[in-house]
Amino acid sequence: MSISPSYSLSPLPFSFPFPPPQNPNPRIITPLSSQTPTLTLDPDNKIVERGVEFSAGDSFFRSESATGRDLAVLSAALHRRSTGRLRVLDAMCGCGVRSLRYLRQADADFVWANDANEDYRGTILSNLSGIPRVSEGGERRWVVTHSDANRVLVESYLHRDFFDLVDVDSFGSDSMFLRSAVAALKIGGLLYVTSTDGYSSGGHRPQHSLASYGAYVKPMPFSNEVGLRMLIGGVLREAVALGFFVSPLFSYYSYHGPVFRVMLRVSRGKLPENSHYCFISYCNRCGHSQAFSWGQLGQISCPCSNGEVSRSLVVSGPLWTGPLHDGYYVTEMLKLAEEWGWTSAGNKDVDLEKLLNQMIDESDPELPFGYIKLDEVASRAKVNSPPLKAMISTLHEEGYAASRSHITPNAIKTNCPMAVCIQIAMRLQKC
Ligand SMILES: C[S@@+](CC[C@H](N)C(=O)[O-])C[C@H]1O[C@@H](n2cnc3c(N)ncnc32)[C@H](O)[C@@H]1O
Ligand SMILES: [Zn+2]
Repeated sequence: MSISPSYSLSPLPFSFPFPPPQNPNPRIITPLSSQTPTLTLDPDNKIVERGVEFSAGDSFFRSESATGRDLAVLSAALHRRSTGRLRVLDAMCGCGVRSLRYLRQADADFVWANDANEDYRGTILSNLSGIPRVSEGGERRWVVTHSDANRVLVESYLHRDFFDLVDVDSFGSDSMFLRSAVAALKIGGLLYVTSTDGYSSGGHRPQHSLASYGAYVKPMPFSNEVGLRMLIGGVLREAVALGFFVSPLFSYYSYHGPVFRVMLRVSRGKLPENSHYCFISYCNRCGHSQAFSWGQLGQISCPCSNGEVSRSLVVSGPLWTGPLHDGYYVTEMLKLAEEWGWTSAGNKDVDLEKLLNQMIDESDPELPFGYIKLDEVASRAKVNSPPLKAMISTLHEEGYAASRSHITPNAIKTNCPMAVCIQIAMRLQKC
């Protein structure tokens, strides 16, 4: 066991490409009252999530994030089953609910629960107290620390103390830890990251998304999918710098927040020439969307402009343009959720079975980035919005790939151009 209770968190004795630790993320010291909305609970109030009891104490805790935690635990358990080992670093653990669930439900061999806020210590320890600190074989099962996430991640990397799953549940578009999180993972390990920056994904501060994720993002009608793609692209950029490649296993948007969550698998590799790390465009005049590789940068124009430079074209990128999920992997998650009875007894407002099935449909490699809102099709066609089911089955009949989007209820993902969608909508509405 490489971690002991006296694990050193001394100043970093090395040169590593991160801002110096004497300027920690101000969110650590921001009073909770001025952070993103918090569900305040009586310190003794017990919460039960998927049968696991814990207390949130005075920590930042959102019951709405339960689905994000369900998805993480399913992934962790699959990893444990397929590799026979699961060491987790929960770098921003809050009250420690994820750490607890990784231990109890995913049968983690070891969990490191870290949160910069030392005031949460009592709550975290109390939540984990039901799990013996040491296994029958004499191995440490969990440890609690209060350090900056980056420091924990970098020190793990430097100690060659690699993890199977690194979970960084951060606020806003904090991306400082992305490279260190990748570095702290075993090859084949899982990285679970979060962004809650809806302004950046909405294209309202492109300089900010450029700084955080390396993507210049402009307003587009499918901005909530762009948020996921911006986050994946940001991780990819950092991973590639270390000689690794990442691919998304699942991507989850939740309107509470909003919150963008992505689980990625890290493998050794380079960015291929024809990678899904590209630019995307949306034409405000005709509604057509396209992806452009780096090699096509000088030739961006919409078919509606007959090859001329078009002022109606909005371009964002670079970001991830490949599938949002691995369909085979999400199918395994669904099977496990069924085995555990999580598909019948749902969270308050999210049906896990429906969500996972939508993700499986969305992972069709024929589907491009983005989604088309049926209201936009209707408005361009000057008809009432066509029924979603009828629209999808007509698209399938005509040979196009089409699915719902887990992000927006009245929208479709399809490789059918907007102009053809408009014609189909007109036909369906008998115009
Ligand atoms: C969104 S909350 C975590 C919630 C928790 N993962 C859950 O599922 O309930 C983010 C946590 O990160 C902590 N935090 C913020 N900046 C940090 C940093 N740089 N290093 C470590 N922890 C940090 C905050 O104290 C807060 O508890
Ligand atoms: Zn156009």
